[in-house]
Amino acid sequence: MSLFTVDKDKCNFCGMCVDECSPRVIVQDGQKSPPYMIDNGEEDCLRCGHCVAVCPYDAVSIEGMAPEQCDPLKRRLLPTAEQVELLLKSRRSIRSYRDEPVPREKLEKLIDIARYAPSGHNSQPVQWLVVENAQETRRMGGLVVEWMRAIVESKPEMAANMHFDRIVEQCDAGYDYILRGAPHVVVAHADKVNAVMAPTASVTALTYLELAAYAMGLGACWAGYFHFACGSYKPLQEALSLPEGHQVHGAMMVGYPKHRFSRIPLRNAPAIAWR
Ligand SMILES: Cc1cc2nc3c(=O)[nH]c(=O)nc-3n(C[C@H](O)[C@H](O)[C@H](O)COP(=O)(O)O)c2cc1C
Repeated sequence: MSLFTVDKDKCNFCGMCVDECSPRVIVQDGQKSPPYMIDNGEEDCLRCGHCVAVCPYDAVSIEGMAPEQCDPLKRRLLPTAEQVELLLKSRRSIRSYRDEPVPREKLEKLIDIARYAPSGHNSQPVQWLVVENAQETRRMGGLVVEWMRAIVESKPEMAANMHFDRIVEQCDAGYDYILRGAPHVVVAHADKVNAVMAPTASVTALTYLELAAYAMGLGACWAGYFHFACGSYKPLQEALSLPEGHQVHGAMMVGYPKHRFSRIPLRNAPAIAWR
């Protein structure tokens, strides 16, 4: 089977698939002929499925992606612009969590949504590690404190600049400054061979995940200290046990929020230049 196929009985030659093809490998010889893929087009095709998804006649397929495999877009379920604005502005970093695990199906749902985030060249390089066990989450948070403590001792000036001394103090006093008592941490990682696309793809996917968590009544917060420690602290890397050659590109705490916010805090006015 060729990569790109058109059901000529269904195609009405509208050219939408041609217009939407990012690498321009789908073409049409005039307005009354069916679209086709250029010779060797499969080498440049992103497998993004735009040609399948844009066709209103279900005429286009690519290998492994037929129209009937793709969910129909139920426009009536889309939120209004006002609802989206409210969702985006009222999302908060959650730092108090209920002592209650999130069911696996909900964690899976978050990742199912996050995988629809854009990625350079549709490379979809992000892989996930979900620390489902709350005790393991706490243990990993403890490893980050160990890492910080070592830096406080070996490089006190640098540690003070990053407030590690204060964070360690708070942790020693029993407050989980690293993962805020969240029962789970979701880690986005990728093979180092994807070093160009993976960092942005991971951050984008985690941003989707954070927003999806909020929409589902969950709470989330970027785990920046955790991510920082993943870069160099061997015991934490061992605890993660990522596949060989993989690198962490971001991590998100996830749990049920203890509190509800009543207002939207102010943010800086945007700095915009117009040309
Ligand atoms: C890359 C990144 C790393 C972050 N790391 C942490 C973290 O380790 N702990 C934490 O409590 N918040 C962390 N945050 C959350 C920010 O502090 C938060 O986004 C900011 O204070 C604004 O609050 P808001 O997200 O509720 O608007 C991080 C945010 C980003 C984008």
